[in-house]
This record gives sequence, C-alpha cells and structure tokens, in this order.
Amino acid sequence: AAVSAGAQAQTYPGNKPVSIVVPFTAGGPTDRVARDLAEAMRKQIPGSNFVVENAAGAGGTIGATKVAKAAPDGHTVLLHHIGMAATPALYRKLGYKTLEDFEFLGMINDVPMTLIGKPQLPANTYRDFENYIRANAGKLNIAHAGLGSASHICGLLWQSNLQSKDAMTTIPFGGTAPAMTALIGGQVDVMCDQTTNTTSQIEGGRVKAFAVTTAKPLSTHPVLKYYPSLQEMGMKNFDLTIWHGLYAPKGTPAAITKTLNDALKKALKDPEFIKKNESLGALVVTDKRSDPAEHKKFVAAEMIKIKAAVDAAGKYAD
Ligand code: MLT
Repeated sequence: AAVSAGAQAQTYPGNKPVSIVVPFTAGGPTDRVARDLAEAMRKQIPGSNFVVENAAGAGGTIGATKVAKAAPDGHTVLLHHIGMAATPALYRKLGYKTLEDFEFLGMINDVPMTLIGKPQLPANTYRDFENYIRANAGKLNIAHAGLGSASHICGLLWQSNLQSKDAMTTIPFGGTAPAMTALIGGQVDVMCDQTTNTTSQIEGGRVKAFAVTTAKPLSTHPVLKYYPSLQEMGMKNFDLTIWHGLYAPKGTPAAITKTLNDALKKALKDPEFIKKNESLGALVVTDKRSDPAEHKKFVAAEMIKIKAAVDAAGKYAD
C-alpha cells in the first residue's frame, strides 16, 4: 500500500477529478468560494480537474461527514467554514470529529456577514430595524442554512445580544441561496448572510441591508460602506467573520496533502482570485493560517470561542 501511495502521489492528481465537496446547496456563499477556488487551483496544477460537488443538509454536517468517511486518496476534499468549529458545540451526535478526522490543508479567506431583511420590511436604518423586531417579538422569522451554519450562528449571536422578549422563528434551508430567494420573495423576514452572497442583492436593491457583523464597518467597500457595524449599534464585542478552509480525509498521504497545500498557497496569491474575493467584501488569507498546522491551531481555538458564545446564547439555540 505504501508503494502504491507513493506511486500515486507522483502522478497526483493527474486528470482524475478532485471533488471539492461543498456542504451547502449550489449558488450560496460557500459554493461561491469553492467555484472561485477550483478555478484558481486548476491554474496551479496544469491538467488538473478540480470540480465542485454540493452535498447539502443538516447545517453542513452531511457534507462534512461524507468527506470524513471518503477514501483518503486526494480525490475528495471538503471546503467548509466556521461550521467546522461550531457543530461540535451544537450536535449531540456528529458523524465526525473536527480535529481528528481530517487532514487540514490550509485556510482560504475571511468573509464578513450582513444583517439583511425582505424588501417589504418597514425599516431603513438599523435602529428602525431593531425597533421593528422588538415591536414584533415572536411574530417574525429568520432564515438560515441549518444548525451550525454561519447564518444560524450569526442569527443566534445577534438575537442573544438583542435580548428580545421572544426569539424569532428560525426557518432552515439547505443553503443561503434558497434562503435568499425566499427573503427576496418576502416569504421570510430576516437573514444574516455572508457578503459573498448578499453584496450583489444589496447593490441590486432586492433586499434591505442594516448592519455588518465585523467589529468595524467595511468603510472601503463601494456597496457595504453604507452600513454600520453591530458593535457601533451598541452590541459590544460583536465581531463575527466567517472563515473558510480546505480539508481532506484523515490518512491522506503527506505527498498528496502537500501538493494540495502548495497549490492552495499559490491560488491565494492569484490576482484574479483575490480580486473576486475583494469585490464581494471577502479577504483572502495572507497570514500563516494557510499552513496546515496553523490552520488546525486556529480551528481548535475557534471551537473553544464558539462553544462559549453558543453556551452564553443558549436559550436561542434551536
Ligand atoms: C451558511 O450560512 O453556513 C452558508 O453560508 C450557507 C451556504 O453557503 O449556502
């Protein structure tokens, strides 16, 4: 087996597809990052064939479990976000152990989130929006992409800071692409989603935007600079950024994970990939989190941070 792994590593990946599994539906923010990254990775390894495969459901845990159990041959990798750190705090039974069942291949980008509402919402500033939410406690709903998704985590933290009398009804979807369609159509009232998905909808006037989730406003972004941060609106310490990373099943040969990490690091320096991210308010990782060991350390620290935040927000957890 060692010989074949070694031989395989020499020709890896060849033209055999490398499936980048996205644990949410197509067209959403995680899918967006994956498609842009697949294009950048293909450029780094001539003849390679990085393809995106959507495996949605259960807040991203179905897709993550699928990769944890996949053959460790370098032809199935997972592109996932903060949910890798959040799900252990939210699921009693999980099909994977974040720190044990994956090889960490490096981090990709940091993406802010925006608090947005359906176009019919009778509010234009964050203050009006917050007052409207309070005045209609228990009557409104908030969409997300399942327990442990970024949109769920954001909604949880925001509502616990809101301390509104009743939590909003939460409406789960297979991803925030279908959730966005429902919001634009007025079927749901509110959502917290990543700027990679919301920027074009805000710019197009199809949804209302009220605030960003980063500590500071995105004051240099042509579309997002008009919105305050939740911290500015009085939610002290509210500072939520969604990070994305790449993972392979545990036991994937080191020569293969090195090939993938090398290609990722080059992709992170690809001007087109950087520009695509920046146009959507996202920032490509430029620090040492692109190293597998630092990636793993970062996720381990995030797991502790998120567990504390979720425990504190407890009563709003689904
Ligand atoms: C999430 O809310 O976790 C994801 O952004 C959903 C998605 O990528 O569709």
